[in-house]
Amino acid sequence: MVDRFVLSCLCCCCLVGVLADSNAVKSVPVTEGDSVTLNPDLSVKQSDNLIMWNFKTNGYLIAKITSNHTSIIDDVLDGIFRDRLKLDHQTGSLTITDITTQHTGVYQVTISSKTKSVYRFNVTVYARLPVPVIISDSPQNSSSSSSSQQNCSLLCSVVNVGHVTLSWYKGNSLLSSISVSDLNNSLSLRLRCLDDSYSCMVSNPINNRTKYVNVTDLCRPCSDCAFCCHASEALARLALSVVVGVATVAIVFYDIITSRKGVNERHHDLQYKTAS
Ligand SMILES: *[C@@H]1O[C@H](CO)[C@@H](O)[C@H](O)[C@H]1NC(C)=O
Ligand SMILES: *[C@@H]1O[C@H](CO)[C@@H](O)[C@H](O)[C@H]1NC(C)=O
Ligand SMILES: *[C@@H]1O[C@H](CO)[C@@H](O)[C@H](O)[C@H]1NC(C)=O
Ligand SMILES: *[C@@H]1O[C@H](CO)[C@@H](O)[C@H](O)[C@H]1NC(C)=O
Ligand SMILES: *[C@@H]1O[C@H](CO)[C@@H](O)[C@H](O)[C@H]1NC(C)=O
Ligand SMILES: *[C@@H]1O[C@H](CO)[C@@H](O)[C@H](O)[C@H]1NC(C)=O
Ligand SMILES: *[C@@H]1O[C@H](CO)[C@@H](O)[C@H](O)[C@H]1NC(C)=O
Repeated sequence: MVDRFVLSCLCCCCLVGVLADSNAVKSVPVTEGDSVTLNPDLSVKQSDNLIMWNFKTNGYLIAKITSNHTSIIDDVLDGIFRDRLKLDHQTGSLTITDITTQHTGVYQVTISSKTKSVYRFNVTVYARLPVPVIISDSPQNSSSSSSSQQNCSLLCSVVNVGHVTLSWYKGNSLLSSISVSDLNNSLSLRLRCLDDSYSCMVSNPINNRTKYVNVTDLCRPCSDCAFCCHASEALARLALSVVVGVATVAIVFYDIITSRKGVNERHHDLQYKTAS
């Protein structure tokens, strides 16, 4: 309740801020292929407004509304806006359909009536992400006999998307991650064995896709390889049992020796007592 109040308060402040400071830039993240509507939110609808939409601050005029006319100028910039713009005469809002990364940039709307106000929208178009691909990256000629000694190596990759982060997860915990701007990206993961909880995620600020590891395909599952998974544990156990074993033997020997000694001493005692 309180949170909601605070939130709506913040929202009001934001709106007021935007309206008051017409230089503020509104951030608009969009996924490639989607449509976005840039709405200047005219507080008072004035019939004699002149509304002009420009792409890239003070750049290309792409749309214009006068009192009796609406025009779309979509042949600028080699026609990147061709058949993609819609203008609402009532609200003055501009819709860009089937958006691509070429449409990333600042859109500025100038509303002139008695006064002049300017609003800016910073449209950032993010790629629609493919599901990452996970392949086995283990040495090809490793013999199966020694594979239990070797770590399983997986490679997670995405192609043809830039500015993404690739991350390996086990359950919900992040194991490793890289941020890359190249179009070809991969991130490897080395493990002794696998279970179903491993996954690789590709993400950008607004989207993410996850691929879960298929144990049967890629690596030996942890469930049926107690040794490879718990090698160190097994070693530790072995070491422990050796120590315990040696200790037991030592104690037994000590017992035998001391009990013999004891017998001897008692014997001496006895002899002494009889002597006295
Ligand atoms: C718009 O209306 C004005 C008069 O109100 C007129 O002079 C002008 O020619 C009109 N423009 C168009 C494009 O119809
Ligand atoms: C637009 O938004 C992007 C992503 O948030 C940011 O990197 C860029 O600096 C912004 N540009 C402007 C002019 O605000
Ligand atoms: C296979 O192993 C041999 C020697 O163990 C090595 O010389 C060769 O480069 C390996 N080949 C591959 C493809 O890993
Ligand atoms: C991306 O990787 C693939 C296969 O590994 C390769 O065929 C392709 O040329 C690479 N593309 C770029 C842009 O590096
Ligand atoms: C194998 O993986 C374990 C942990 O999973 C790691 O401690 C060890 O260094 C790895 N060994 C190699 C050769 O990569
Ligand atoms: C992945 O995207 C979903 C929405 O599609 C979001 O709820 C989730 O928080 C995102 N996860 C990460 C780690 O960014
Ligand atoms: C894992 O791979 C096996 C064999 O290719 C396949 O039958 C199975 O459906 C896969 N499982 C998942 C969850 O993709």
